[in-house]
Amino acid sequence: MFVCQQCGKESLKWLGHCPNCGAWNSFVETTTTLFRRSSSLLYSTGNEPRELSHVEKIAFPRLHSGFNEVNRVLGGGLVRGSLVLVGGEPGIGKSTLLLQISAAMAETIRPIAYISGEESIDQVKLRAERLSLEGKGLYFLPETNLSAVLEHLERLSPSLAVVDSIQTMYLEDVSGAPGSIGQVRECTLRLEYWAKRNNVPILITGHVTKEGAIAGPGTLEHIVDVVLYFEGEPFSSYRVLRGVKNRFGSTNEVGIFEMGNSGLTEVENPSQFFLSQYKDGAIGSVVVPTLEGSRPLLVEIQALTTPNNFGPPRRTANGVDFNRLLLITAVLTKRTGLKLFNQDIIVNVTGGLRISEPAIDLGIATAIASSFYSSKPIAGLVVLGEVGLNGELRRVSQIERRVTEAVRLGFKSCVLPKLETRLSLGYTDIQLIEASSVVEALKLGLTKKVGRIKE
Ligand code: TYD
Ligand code: MG
Repeated sequence: MFVCQQCGKESLKWLGHCPNCGAWNSFVETTTTLFRRSSSLLYSTGNEPRELSHVEKIAFPRLHSGFNEVNRVLGGGLVRGSLVLVGGEPGIGKSTLLLQISAAMAETIRPIAYISGEESIDQVKLRAERLSLEGKGLYFLPETNLSAVLEHLERLSPSLAVVDSIQTMYLEDVSGAPGSIGQVRECTLRLEYWAKRNNVPILITGHVTKEGAIAGPGTLEHIVDVVLYFEGEPFSSYRVLRGVKNRFGSTNEVGIFEMGNSGLTEVENPSQFFLSQYKDGAIGSVVVPTLEGSRPLLVEIQALTTPNNFGPPRRTANGVDFNRLLLITAVLTKRTGLKLFNQDIIVNVTGGLRISEPAIDLGIATAIASSFYSSKPIAGLVVLGEVGLNGELRRVSQIERRVTEAVRLGFKSCVLPKLETRLSLGYTDIQLIEASSVVEALKLGLTKKVGRIKE
């Protein structure tokens, strides 16, 4: 059988181009053994159907991971017997995070096995020194043969096991090089089996491919119980741990960390962290209360418009969706009369954050208009709202959470879409300025020269 290494598509003959995912030269010959079908169609495996109402609820005991931010993403802590995959780009800090978690958990549960197929014991010791980790109860094993790993796990019987990079593990009885789909899938299945049988949690790391998936979509993610992504821009020190799949909790939680000289530290007050260099009343700069998972997070959006009379105007989007920027530019041109056709526009989310929710639309629009008219936003302003193609402002979710966070950080007014109901928060703390269109929002949110904006 030939298997596409990108998406896992199987084919009986070799193909140069995968008809499923479009990858070139991705098929690798793989030997598989077929399960023998039982001749009888009716057989029992010993499992019986049970009425759900008669099943007693068991609480999953959770292990404290040593980091509140990690616990939050996991839904309260690490569940025994669960297989957790931490994915991310190389160099983002997966090994660092797992080493820190291991060391923190070794304070309470011992022993802990840390298996690395990527680093030698000296390299890990060096990192541990840098992180000021002593390493008591933490057993390191450099190994890539998964059968050997499992044997060591049997012997050590750890309370937690870490396997650093599933892509480096291999099994002799499976064809394909380490990192190939067949190997990765089979290694993960064996670890999953071991975790469940021994009721021990296992954390594994996985590198993401260029397309942003871990070893091909659907191959690993449906085997493991929890999938977390560790993300961040290489030039920025902040890192976000995001839940993508969680059999024991919700997936819309994030943990925020900062990578420093001595490893990762939790960021307990992310809004303050991201606004640390914000100056109230700067031209082209607007604060937006976004949501990261269910947590509100204030971010600063900056825009710069410069005349360009020589070529087609350029648009640059850092941290916001490029197509969203084009849409907002079009709406501003058509609905508010901003002459942007000969302007280069650069939009930037400070701190290296990437925000995809449409609730920041009005923030982008206000920042662009502010820069275009050289008009300051009114003092202590945050803005909020999705922009529609007709220039209307659309409602966003969880307004109260967002506004409360703005109040907490001392913002004084908030331009937002028309409210249907009264918000349950202290109206004296912040002035809520409702607007039904972008035009109205710009007039209310900017200090001067807005007279030119058309009705
Ligand atoms: P690492 O955990 O090796 O990444 P991954 O396992 O995801 O490939 O992290 C490597 C990067 O983290 C490296 O570029 C250096 C940086 N780093 C720090 O900035 N501070 C630290 O204390 C440590 C240990 C690493
Ligand atoms: Mg690593």
